[in-house]
Amino acid sequence: MTDTQALKGRVALVTGAAQGIGKAIAEVLAARGTQIVLADPGTSIDGSGADPKLVESVASKIGPSATAFGESIATPSAATAAVETAVRKFGGIDIVVNNAAILRDALVFKLEPRDWEAVIRTNLTAAALITAAATPILRDNAKAGRGGTPYGWGRIVNIGSTAGLYGNFGQASYASAKAGLMGLTRVTALDMSRSGVTANLVAPFAATRVTETIKPANDAQAKYKAGAMSVSARHVANFVAFLCSPSAQKISGQVFGVRAREVFLFQQPRPIARIVNGGGEWTDDDLAASVTQAFNPHFTALTTDLESFSTDPIV
Ligand SMILES: NC(=O)c1ccc[n+]([C@@H]2O[C@H](COP(=O)([O-])OP(=O)(O)OC[C@H]3O[C@@H](n4cnc5c(N)ncnc54)[C@H](O)[C@@H]3O)[C@@H](O)[C@H]2O)c1
Repeated sequence: MTDTQALKGRVALVTGAAQGIGKAIAEVLAARGTQIVLADPGTSIDGSGADPKLVESVASKIGPSATAFGESIATPSAATAAVETAVRKFGGIDIVVNNAAILRDALVFKLEPRDWEAVIRTNLTAAALITAAATPILRDNAKAGRGGTPYGWGRIVNIGSTAGLYGNFGQASYASAKAGLMGLTRVTALDMSRSGVTANLVAPFAATRVTETIKPANDAQAKYKAGAMSVSARHVANFVAFLCSPSAQKISGQVFGVRAREVFLFQQPRPIARIVNGGGEWTDDDLAASVTQAFNPHFTALTTDLESFSTDPIV
């Protein structure tokens, strides 16, 4: 049974918390005693439009331990304002969950600069700006021993996607932003290690309005969609809450996946084969021969995430 007060005292900022996975994360963190700022302007999947009432209603259902921040977090001033809301309303900040994301898919040869910019700004830049706004406070928390010494409450959780790890047709901007979050996670984990603050990336699978819109282009994608539609976002939220718990104090810089009852730990790119030439520069022929012999057996298959996770989820 989960200790309902396991995360008492902590303050969290969860972006994209008005619905879907972000809402589940906010609810689970709140149920464990965390005070929460839910940041979400209530956009459509492509980031257009706004309905801040959505996030206000989720926050008011959670109760006095939650407050709504209805602006888009995709500007430097809003990122700072969202963090300041946590400090002003709840007296500090310990946990950041960068979950907000939009999609504007297009095959790479049809990529529109405006759409690329909007996706990168919302899915990657906003996470970096919020991290930049929150981490000085987390460092001060560590110096002051907030919640006890050594400081053990500081957590950054970036919500990635297997699209950023595998790639997927038509998702150049989304996959690039999500791959960028991996770099951001690693650097945040390194830069904050001396303050005892962890940073990890979680690639989720869950039935949300986004999963609903997948238009399967083949059998593997149809199978993926059917499986994904049976998966509750609560599993992702429970894993995020675990990462925020004292048991996960030493877990940092890692890439996880959560799909219903399965939790995956992903490998991170490291050299797996090496060739060295005998001196001077490679000739094309020598390079071709060495690459074929040493690298060909290790090349990564050009499969999409949808194909790779088309097995039935364990719900
Ligand atoms: N659902 C899945 O299976 C799945 C798979 C892979 C990755 N993800 C990732 O999980 C996260 C949540 O996805 P979801 O399926 O719940 O999506 P969703 O569209 O249901 O929710 C995303 C929320 O982000 C908010 N948002 C958009 N722009 C914002 C901005 N500028 N500022 C603040 N909030 C903003 C939206 O209003 C929305 O409430 C995203 O990062 C997504 O990329 C989800």
